Amino acid sequence: MSKENIHQRIIELRSALEDHNYRYYHSSQPVISDLEFDMLMKDLEKLETENPEFFDPNSPTQRVGSDLNKEFEQVRHQYSMLSLSNSYSEEELRDFDQKIRKLTDQKFEYVCELKYDGTSISLRYKNGLLEKAITRGDGTFGDDVTANVRTIRSIPLNLKGIGFLGEFEIRGEILLPFSEFERINNEREELGEQLFANVRNAASGTLKSQKSLVVAERNLDAYFYYLLGENLPEDGHLENLEAARKWGFKISPDTEKCQNMDEVIAFIRKWNTKRFELPVATDGIVIKVNSLSLQQYLGTTAKSPRWAIAYKYKAEQASTILQSVAFQVGRTGAVTPVANLEPVLLAGTTVKRASLHNADIIRNLDLHFGDTVFVEKGGEIIPKITGADPNFRHPMAQPVEFITDCPECGTALIRKEGEAAHYCPNEDGCPPQIKGKMEHFIGRKAMNIDGLGTETIDLLYNEGLIRNIADLYDLRKEQISRLERLGDKSADRILKSLEVSRQVPFEKVLFALGIRFVGETVAKILAHRLINIENIELASLEELTNIDEIGGRIAESVQAYFSKPENIQLVERLKQNGLQMRLDEASLANRSEKLKGLSIIISGTFEKNSRDDLKKMIEQNGGKNVSSISNNTSYLLAGNNIGPSKLEKAKKLKIPIISEEDFQKMID
Ligand code: IVH
Repeated sequence: MSKENIHQRIIELRSALEDHNYRYYHSSQPVISDLEFDMLMKDLEKLETENPEFFDPNSPTQRVGSDLNKEFEQVRHQYSMLSLSNSYSEEELRDFDQKIRKLTDQKFEYVCELKYDGTSISLRYKNGLLEKAITRGDGTFGDDVTANVRTIRSIPLNLKGIGFLGEFEIRGEILLPFSEFERINNEREELGEQLFANVRNAASGTLKSQKSLVVAERNLDAYFYYLLGENLPEDGHLENLEAARKWGFKISPDTEKCQNMDEVIAFIRKWNTKRFELPVATDGIVIKVNSLSLQQYLGTTAKSPRWAIAYKYKAEQASTILQSVAFQVGRTGAVTPVANLEPVLLAGTTVKRASLHNADIIRNLDLHFGDTVFVEKGGEIIPKITGADPNFRHPMAQPVEFITDCPECGTALIRKEGEAAHYCPNEDGCPPQIKGKMEHFIGRKAMNIDGLGTETIDLLYNEGLIRNIADLYDLRKEQISRLERLGDKSADRILKSLEVSRQVPFEKVLFALGIRFVGETVAKILAHRLINIENIELASLEELTNIDEIGGRIAESVQAYFSKPENIQLVERLKQNGLQMRLDEASLANRSEKLKGLSIIISGTFEKNSRDDLKKMIEQNGGKNVSSISNNTSYLLAGNNIGPSKLEKAKKLKIPIISEEDFQKMID
């Protein structure tokens, strides 16, 4: 194929894939199978790899995301991102209406929209191509999250149709559908990671993830509700959104025009419960004046437009009976009280349990068994109890008291100064804590043992086959294959995966040990600074705290871990089993102290190295890579397209700015 033909084919494939993508994510009416879609994608990927001159950041192949660790640049919003004033009653809405009618005699219409509960985003398009995606930030400056936004499949990278402006912005809400939220939290639970409290946090946390690969995996969605630019196609807000829908944006189908406040209020009532049937979270209704010229005439206050208002639904409440309280011991030993309730219908689902959080909350609520309690469902996973009604209390009702001993192992619970939670201190003898350690060890970010999950760990533990992480390496095939729901195949897979884990790099092994406060980053720092497990075992408190980013709390925890003979023995057994207990040769070879004591910030895009590589080079040479500029920053390593605010700040603080070449010279 000639270059010209190849280019033509690439263009055809991109357009076909965008079209299928649109059918799938917007109208849910795909015309080809997933497999066919994947095949077309593979064809395109192949052509693009073989012909890098035709690279295009807006190609559908780029939606898979990359694993590069990028900091976000701060970008100034072209139009500042205002928020809305809130209202909670019909009366407040009628006041809002009256205020507008005082300012104009003109006849006008309202548009009512659902108020989506996610995280807001502003997209800038130039000549039909997505140019930038910026978070709200402080309303004036926001984070450039373009790389992450590109992975959201319902957001068009190339606009369709005709009539779009050369340059415009569109704003909307990035959302995590409930089904995805559940899937992600289940996955996080298995990995022993902290759960997202609600869909809003999950959406904004995901959007701010440093890895677009993670964003791509999470299937975020987005609805758009505000078009901005010069010479918009229509004077009507709704009409403009309809135009935007034709260009490929996802616009809510549930938006309606209303002629007056009575119609607005009817719309609000209609969605009061209907909104729970939607796949995404909503927390109210937004009411906007439709005419842009009237919007402009009404203007804005410093914080919000005068032509729009949000009506927020009250969190739904129900009352029910508190039957009992269960105390659950988590993997970290933290004890959580959970209320068992007489089942009650709340916001579309039957509620049987509610979180009670900790002893203080139980005491403040003055809860008694058999109480009539109020439950409320915010966006949280499990509802909470907001109060008890003492009028319905039985005179002999017993107060709910926090337990004193661990329900799993009987050890007396402790509560640390200043902490709300009670803990079971029997780290090495309390079953959920032992199992928790093993689950952490096998997790994807730790030893990544395929085939082993929470359930298998439970089975192996209950059968008495494993008591600690080192026991995993003594497992024999017949011990695994005879277990319920497992067989020869699963046993082979688990053993193979354990075998492969012997090559997992030292820093991950260190993380996998589950030493308190030694997360992924700390494990990496310790591994690179102290090189092998013996040095870490023997390091004094001073040696540890002398390492940048290792504070007293971490250092003490490391020492406490290695002060226990059973842990030393455990590590020894893992070493005997062939696990990596020292930094690999390649990392060792590239080490130097040339940047010792220097803090370097990386900004922009580079020609020779990726930002991840540069970060590694800084660390390998004893320097520290920092993410925000301060007086303590030694250098700004600047590439192309560096954010103007960063540059400005560096100049102001007189921080030397170096290029990729200068940097290379420093370490050569
Ligand atoms: S309009 C100047 N419409 O609510 C008006 N906002 O409290 C800009 N939101 O920051 C906002 N759904 O994140 C608008 N249909 C909708 C919305 C909506 C959700 C969010 C948005 C905004 C916040 C304001």
